[in-house]
Amino acid sequence: MRASGTSGATVTVRVPAKVNVQLAVGAARPDGFHDLANVFLAVGLYDEITVTPSDALRITAEGHDADQIPLDGTNLAARAAELLAARHDIAPHVHVHIAKDIPVAGGMAGGSADAAGALLACDTLWSTGATREELLEICAELGSDVPFSLVGGAALGRGRGELLTPLPVGGAFHWVFAVAEGGLSTPAVYGEFDRLTEGTAVPAPQADPALLAALEAGDAAALAGALANDLQPAALSLRPDLSATLAAGTDAGALAALVSGSGPTTAFLVKDHQAAQQVAAALTASGTCRDVRLADSPAPGATLA
Ligand code: C5P
Repeated sequence: MRASGTSGATVTVRVPAKVNVQLAVGAARPDGFHDLANVFLAVGLYDEITVTPSDALRITAEGHDADQIPLDGTNLAARAAELLAARHDIAPHVHVHIAKDIPVAGGMAGGSADAAGALLACDTLWSTGATREELLEICAELGSDVPFSLVGGAALGRGRGELLTPLPVGGAFHWVFAVAEGGLSTPAVYGEFDRLTEGTAVPAPQADPALLAALEAGDAAALAGALANDLQPAALSLRPDLSATLAAGTDAGALAALVSGSGPTTAFLVKDHQAAQQVAAALTASGTCRDVRLADSPAPGATLA
């Protein structure tokens, strides 16, 4: 086994959050996952992952809600470092520091972003020579949303969300995000989806051609008309209070509102930065959320800082 990197070296990677502009969910598969047509869009809220050689694998975190993330081996960023190290016969002796800005447990892929960031940072620190395909394979092993965190931009995710096809985006889209009190467990939301759809024929998930055309044209009004999240009824069933947040944003002039992924963060598509300020102020005044964030999309994937 070789030693883990040059003493004194430090690598920092910046990774974006995501919103699912379409999340079409099929029936549960025998392995428990659900087949998806998952249209990911990376948004400009970022976590920064810094890795430094150390005498053992160690995780630290700072920033927004940093006290809510695990600092042991269950952190996806630690698992990313371990998986890469094991494949290349390297001791995973690295200090992974996470500077968090993406809401935790919010349906914006913050944990996945940290995993993709740690993977790219360790790969650079250790000069493993891994191909992009190998990194994407490790990402898929870590979680369904992790490959997209590496790639960024916009992409259609098939399978359980890990099989990506990049999508063209013709312009900037502006968003406001309302961060809810507490988090929602992704398996619990999928479980509620299964409960709500029990006894019904769940159609095979398909990407909506009108939504893909709206993305390609950079047409916010058309995208607003096509936003869709099949997990939203399940998230609202577990968190009925989110309906008031969605209403507060649409009443304030958002083009459209939806739950982000499995929630409980809610996302508001707006026309421009002025509308974003207006919707953000109304959401804050409504008292229906814990924090409000503004971001533009698309954003690049995991990038060396
Ligand atoms: O892949 P990831 O670890 O992010 O998935 C977390 C959980 O979300 C899974 O254990 C599963 O319960 C649910 N899930 C699913 N279908 C997907 C993706 C996730 O049922 N396509």
